[in-house]
Amino acid sequence: MESTNKSERFLRALQRKPIDRTPIWIMRQAGRYLPEYRATRAKAGDFLKLCKTPELACEVTLQPIQRFDLDAAILFSDILTIPDAMGLGLTVDEGVGPRFANPVRSKDAVYRLSAPDPEADLGYVMETVRLVRSELDGRVPLIGFAGSPWTLATYMVEGQSSKDFSVVKTMMFDQPETAHRLLQTLAQSVISYLTAQANAGAQALMIFDTWGGVLTRRDYDAFSLSYMSQIIAGLDDQLKEARPPIILFTKGGGQWLESTAATGCEGVGLDWTVDIKQARRRIGDRVCLQGNMDPNLLYAREHRIIEEVEIILQQYGSGSGHVFNLGHGIHPTIDHARVKLLVDVVHELSMPYHK
Ligand code: CP3
Repeated sequence: MESTNKSERFLRALQRKPIDRTPIWIMRQAGRYLPEYRATRAKAGDFLKLCKTPELACEVTLQPIQRFDLDAAILFSDILTIPDAMGLGLTVDEGVGPRFANPVRSKDAVYRLSAPDPEADLGYVMETVRLVRSELDGRVPLIGFAGSPWTLATYMVEGQSSKDFSVVKTMMFDQPETAHRLLQTLAQSVISYLTAQANAGAQALMIFDTWGGVLTRRDYDAFSLSYMSQIIAGLDDQLKEARPPIILFTKGGGQWLESTAATGCEGVGLDWTVDIKQARRRIGDRVCLQGNMDPNLLYAREHRIIEEVEIILQQYGSGSGHVFNLGHGIHPTIDHARVKLLVDVVHELSMPYHK
């Protein structure tokens, strides 16, 4: 295969069109493992101020692109910007994680919520998208993103990160109508939020369903997947031909890949528990696969990382339709030299699979 213009590799892989090497980007690629990120965050004061200051959010979005040969940038922001704009009182403290001062636990509280206006209430995100596109100047595409309604609801109802999800699941089991009303408001919010990101210049969109995998098969369909399908249909409707490709990632969703692929998305994110060879057999004729190295492999020795990259590339096999990534976000204590190695090795070792 002739050399693909680097700026096109990621978007062509999503369309399963021929490319020269397997593209790679990394979930949480702008983050605490980078000293320059820590410096900018300190300048901003805290994480949320960093998200809400477009110049600084743009700066950290670009940091990993400047340091590594990555094939895509991802907007620096957070999935919790939507509930923050709804007035839940978000704080994100180091070592504590996200917390809401006003979690949503009653029927009344759910019915009082309304979808934020993306330009009025989340204008700082759109401003960051516009700034990043202009600074990137076509070097690599920019990915916009949102959380899935279910994943957002877990934080909004629990009030913080959770291990067992007992509060939100109790709402789902005992007050299904209230839970559906919450998810419906969130689906509407995500549709207008992602539409605005696309209009501001996001060239691909990713939906993070980080906690879909804690549901039963039936509850996944009813409380997570159906709302993600609704979001994709809503984006089709809003953006028509200009709708960017969409990647859906349900962590722990490896058993339900056919259902995820049937939502109308162009890409499916895989966590590391999935055998990518089997995943390709199951859904690879319909969607691009993104993933799926265990993030902990970046703690291993160099030869072990190289070996793992080769195994994943070989298991996916020849041809386009694979975007290399980790199976979840990179850990904050990873040595960035390992990240450079990973990115370069994916490009080098993938060439024979694109002849
Ligand atoms: O991938 C990227 O580089 C883009 C940036 C990004 C962040 N959060 C930055 C961030 C993205 C795509 C997210 C999405 C996100 N946020 C998800 C879904 C993806 C996933 O990881 O499962 C979730 C569940 C959240 C909610 C959230 N935000 C949590 C649980 C935390 C605490 C994480 C921790 O390790 O402390 C955050 C804060 C957060 N979001 C940080 C970053 C870089 C750390 C904040 C800091 O700098 O201290």
